[in-house]
Amino acid sequence: MDATALENEARTAIAAAADADALEELRLRYLGRKSELKLALREVRDRETGMALNAARTAIEEALAGRETELAAAAAEDGEPFDPTLPGEPLRRGSLHLLTQLRRQVEDVFLGMGYEVYDGREVETVWHNYDALNQPEAHPSRDPRDTFYFDESTLLRTHTSPSQIRAMLAQQPPVYLISPGRTYRRDALDATHTPVFHQIEGLAVDRGITLADLRGTIELFVGAIFGPRDVRMRTSFFPFTEPSVEFDVTCYLCEGSGCAVCKHSGWIEMGGAGVVDPNVFEAVGYDPEEWSGFAFGLGLDRIAFLRHGLPDLRLFWDNDLRMTRQF
Ligand code: FA5
Repeated sequence: MDATALENEARTAIAAAADADALEELRLRYLGRKSELKLALREVRDRETGMALNAARTAIEEALAGRETELAAAAAEDGEPFDPTLPGEPLRRGSLHLLTQLRRQVEDVFLGMGYEVYDGREVETVWHNYDALNQPEAHPSRDPRDTFYFDESTLLRTHTSPSQIRAMLAQQPPVYLISPGRTYRRDALDATHTPVFHQIEGLAVDRGITLADLRGTIELFVGAIFGPRDVRMRTSFFPFTEPSVEFDVTCYLCEGSGCAVCKHSGWIEMGGAGVVDPNVFEAVGYDPEEWSGFAFGLGLDRIAFLRHGLPDLRLFWDNDLRMTRQF
């Protein structure tokens, strides 16, 4: 018998063996007691033939061992053979973040009242963020300890109010807009403050607008987002509105009787508002004798927190899917 031909035939068959059973069959066929090779070895008469047959046996044993390792590695890799007829793994559907859902709802409420949605800028000039909004140079909120400055004239906006300025510079009255977006303050992180948060600015400029229009608009908005709740306006101060108010809604938890969440007042603050200061109209070239308006700024994160009774604003940023999947 030709040892080389036998070895080659065995190698080819071994390389093609698809699994351990096939390999065992080949081991019996080529190295078993009744195999051609074993029979030939028994009959060997001369040294040369013996050496050739033994070399073939070693080569076949090595090929078998090699193929066995290969098959074991492949099995460990994909466990089961691939079956293209099985249905695929279901993909888990994502959903919008609660803050995005809420922003869209607020947008819908105001779109329904004929407002447009205006996109402002997160990187602002000091002029748009403060000066044009009638904020005196000595105002404490301008302090670098409260504001993220890039340089003397550029900063991360501390509120969405500069959107009012950009929008009014770009168009003539009447104006009805809201402008949602991120805002930045160097506030210490706690349950009700994050250094990055979201506001929704509102601005209405027309003839004969009064504080009563503001109140009606806020009540309609609060009703749409929270359902029936009381709204309270307190006098306040903002450089860009006169008069200025802060408005509160009844606490979600105690419904007004007073608890730890509302610091026993029964109310939770939602935002600031007021009648647009004539100096702001002058900064953008509107005639304050002809036009009047109101503006408001809502804290979106606080609204989400109020509406869903969340204990801590930081939950919005933790990336914990157990929290976000609930909404
Ligand atoms: C303003 O930012 C004014 N620009 C609002 C305004 C607009 C008044 C137009 C008049 C006319 P204030 O600093 O109060 O106001 O912030 C408004 C709201 O943002 C707050 O009521 C609160 O809900 C939210 N807010 C403020 N700081 C934070 C913070 N660190 N984390 C989360 N929410 C905050």
